[in-house]
Amino acid sequence: MLSKDVEINDHFITSSQEYKEGNVFIFEQPIDVGKYVSAELQITALGVYEAEFNGNKVGDFFLAPGFTYYPLHLNTQTYDVTNLINKQSVLRVYLGQGWYCGRFTHENINQIYGENSAVSWILKIILETGEVKHYCSSDKNVKLLSSPYKYAGLYDGEIYDANIHLKENDNYSKVKYTGKLPETIKTTIDYPRIQEEMEVDKVIYNDNKVILDFGQNFSGIIEIDPTKLDLEELKVKHGEVLNTDGSLYTTNLRKAKAEIVYKKGETTDIYRPRFTYMGFRYIELSMTDYVPGLIKAYTVYNKMKRTGQFFCENELVNKLYENQVWGQKSNYIEVPMDCPQRDERMGYTGDGQVFAMTGSYNFDTERFWEKYLLDITYTQQDNEKGYVPPTVPANGPTGIGYLNMLGWGNCVMIVPELLYRQYGNLDHVINQYDSMKKFVECEIEQMGDDYLWLGINLGDWLMMGKDVAWMAQNNNPVSNSFIVNDLRIMTWAAKILGKEYDYKRYNEIYHKVRNSYINKFIDNDGYISENYQGAYILALQYVVPEGSLWNKVFRHLVNHINEHGMQTGFFGTEYILPILIKGNEYELAYDLLLNEECPGWMYQVKLGATTTWERWDAIKPDGTINEIKLSDDNMVSFNHYAFGSVGRFYYEHILGIYPLKSGFEEILIEPIIDSRLGKVSGSFICKTGEIKVCWEDCNDVVKYELVVPTNSRFVDINKQEYNLKKGKYEISVKKGMKNEI
Ligand code: BGC
Repeated sequence: MLSKDVEINDHFITSSQEYKEGNVFIFEQPIDVGKYVSAELQITALGVYEAEFNGNKVGDFFLAPGFTYYPLHLNTQTYDVTNLINKQSVLRVYLGQGWYCGRFTHENINQIYGENSAVSWILKIILETGEVKHYCSSDKNVKLLSSPYKYAGLYDGEIYDANIHLKENDNYSKVKYTGKLPETIKTTIDYPRIQEEMEVDKVIYNDNKVILDFGQNFSGIIEIDPTKLDLEELKVKHGEVLNTDGSLYTTNLRKAKAEIVYKKGETTDIYRPRFTYMGFRYIELSMTDYVPGLIKAYTVYNKMKRTGQFFCENELVNKLYENQVWGQKSNYIEVPMDCPQRDERMGYTGDGQVFAMTGSYNFDTERFWEKYLLDITYTQQDNEKGYVPPTVPANGPTGIGYLNMLGWGNCVMIVPELLYRQYGNLDHVINQYDSMKKFVECEIEQMGDDYLWLGINLGDWLMMGKDVAWMAQNNNPVSNSFIVNDLRIMTWAAKILGKEYDYKRYNEIYHKVRNSYINKFIDNDGYISENYQGAYILALQYVVPEGSLWNKVFRHLVNHINEHGMQTGFFGTEYILPILIKGNEYELAYDLLLNEECPGWMYQVKLGATTTWERWDAIKPDGTINEIKLSDDNMVSFNHYAFGSVGRFYYEHILGIYPLKSGFEEILIEPIIDSRLGKVSGSFICKTGEIKVCWEDCNDVVKYELVVPTNSRFVDINKQEYNLKKGKYEISVKKGMKNEI
């Protein structure tokens, strides 16, 4: 711990150079300590920093100190650097603009949170004599260096000139930072890192350029080895797909250049970008001959423990599973993003909540969400009502307009309950309670006396069959279902936390909202006037209690699917298969999963997708890219994880793993068998241990192999129930015959 009188807030420095997009400032401090026992570096920045001692990077945080709601909250990191320093060392700190004041958001704005980048550090050294020494960024001996970076930004990439030597800057100097500081500076909870190396799958020569295919769409960076470069300058463009003529397709990146320009100098140091990452599968190199080893590529995402696995004998089903995992890896960078490639890459609450359950099976996401829920809390504090906007951290104080993105801000309600269910930790609900309450109160106020919020809204975003404008006009059954669900969650949270007054209030409103919904949108026959799948699915999932009305609504959904095929958007897609299972339409659920026509998951897989697409028809059946425009720009990402929410179906219905008590204290195993998958196996590491499920449909017999870490209920193909204790089981079931237990 640092002593009280040395505070990180007091040492922010910047350059005397005026703001220019893409600037990188480099600071250097000589450290001359003699004999020491330990050394600790506390550091943070308004921008993005990398610190080095004698050329060795401190820590493994990529894009430190991370993305938070900067007006109110900044994260700081403390590293033990005892082994990185010597008696004499050089501390060098690279400072880029990042989310703080670099170009960011789909509106491509500069200086969103502040006028210029700044950094602050305190190096605390305990000498052998017991004396404590502090070296701070504001010390006199900290110098500003000239920068080899001609440009560095999240969207456009970097222009790096290795001819420029790191020496004291002749034109500008280090100055004290006098801008506004965030109100709280806290310790980081979790952060992104460089992860696996991606091998080059193919080297393609096209039109005097070299294209490297990594065989997988992912978020990450490339690295250049100058000893293998025989050119003065190398340009590296990133892209997700190729045009039909074999060239790199980049139109969908919109204003993001996604480019690295490296100018060769005397130094042979490996070049690796510090201030950007890209979403790509291919890179195009401005050269005609590729030397193996010139380029390496690495993924970047938040470190999370892998907890789920799935495998079966149907290749398409396996590929889709892998694709949604890659969607998560690509989009869990500091915040749950929408996509990693174009001029967006923002923390989208709607996309985040839709994929959250799937994500919590693939990986342990508890810390990731804990950090993001805090981002929501801070963002929310900065508007007088407490709305949660579609993107968090928000770009600034948010207003009422944001409420008409129901399905997005509702993340603040859905995720704490989900974390409690998946990880059994009530703290998430306790910590978020006030923030949840604020959000629900906004909804209550907006609904007024009729307990409905009717207005233009996005509804079941990007469904097929109807365009965005139609959906916006007919969104109400989808949008209002989120409000009903929020009130259910609020009632539950108040009850579980013993808040009696709140419980009464919200329970009453919950019933009113639910009745209003049913009266307004659903007729006695279960028909929903707008008659689209998202409306039926969300009514079934969030609103209608089980019973005869539920069954009627369900029939309309099934008829609609039989007539039109699957037609769901972001929100309907998460639940379409689970709802079909709930209504015992097993074969139809698997038909939809396996459908190879558009719209359908396997359509994408068949066309070579390695992640899930933003639009069902991102590549149209005729092979052309769907460049449909919304406002001025096209909107076609090949790495949006929202439709990857089908991952939940893999765990909860194909493997049949489901928590009966929060945190999987008690488990249900109820796999839904379909011989089209061949032999199926998978696992999930939950808080109580590892669950393993394997099944095979052998004509008239189904063979199961199960491992359960705690008391579990197993339901076989004949709906016969078994109570299992912790252990390993092999069970064979004759179809239609009761088993002797
Ligand atoms: C994003 C989304 C988001 C949507 C809603 C898009 O530009 O990429 O995934 O949810 O906007 O406005």
